[in-house]
Amino acid sequence: MSEHSLRVLLSENQIRARVREIAARIDADYPDGVLCLIGVLKGSCIFLSDLVRAIRRPVRFDFIGASSYGAGKASSGSVQITKNVEMPLEGCDVLLVEDIVDTGITLTHLLRRIERHRPKSVRVAALLDKPERHQRPVDIAYLGFSIPDRFVVGYGLDYAEDYRGLRDICLLD
Ligand code: PRP
Repeated sequence: MSEHSLRVLLSENQIRARVREIAARIDADYPDGVLCLIGVLKGSCIFLSDLVRAIRRPVRFDFIGASSYGAGKASSGSVQITKNVEMPLEGCDVLLVEDIVDTGITLTHLLRRIERHRPKSVRVAALLDKPERHQRPVDIAYLGFSIPDRFVVGYGLDYAEDYRGLRDICLLD
């Protein structure tokens, strides 16, 4: 494990409270129909697992694999699909679940891909957003926190695959 200095930006308790609020809004917004959450691997897996347990209505979930960062700290700008959605999405309400939106390139690419499945609706749930970094217009229906343009790890987010298991979200210096 590489040695970096970590400072808590969002604590486990803050994250838990915000996930509950988002889940309550999702419950209210989708009273009926099949709701499919699609987690974007790998970073969103912890947010998705907490979110599906906080949502009270029935949900289905699957994952899509996308990577644009490799082992570096900056987006490469090109999105590699590492796993496709296997679940049928036609006629379903779909929520694309991201850990973080940075340039918006991944999200834009994945939304186009999901639209091909002819879902009834598609919205985005993202735990974190860095609005200063957007290079594409992004519409996040359910946002956890807007954060400044700093490198963050924990709660699924990595630096070169380390730190994903931290319970807090931390600044990496
Ligand atoms: C991160 C994050 C988003 C994407 C956001 O994934 O999970 O999918 O980058 O960046 P963008 O808005 O600039 O496109 P990453 O490529 O680091 O893969 P990982 O989730 O497996 O760590």
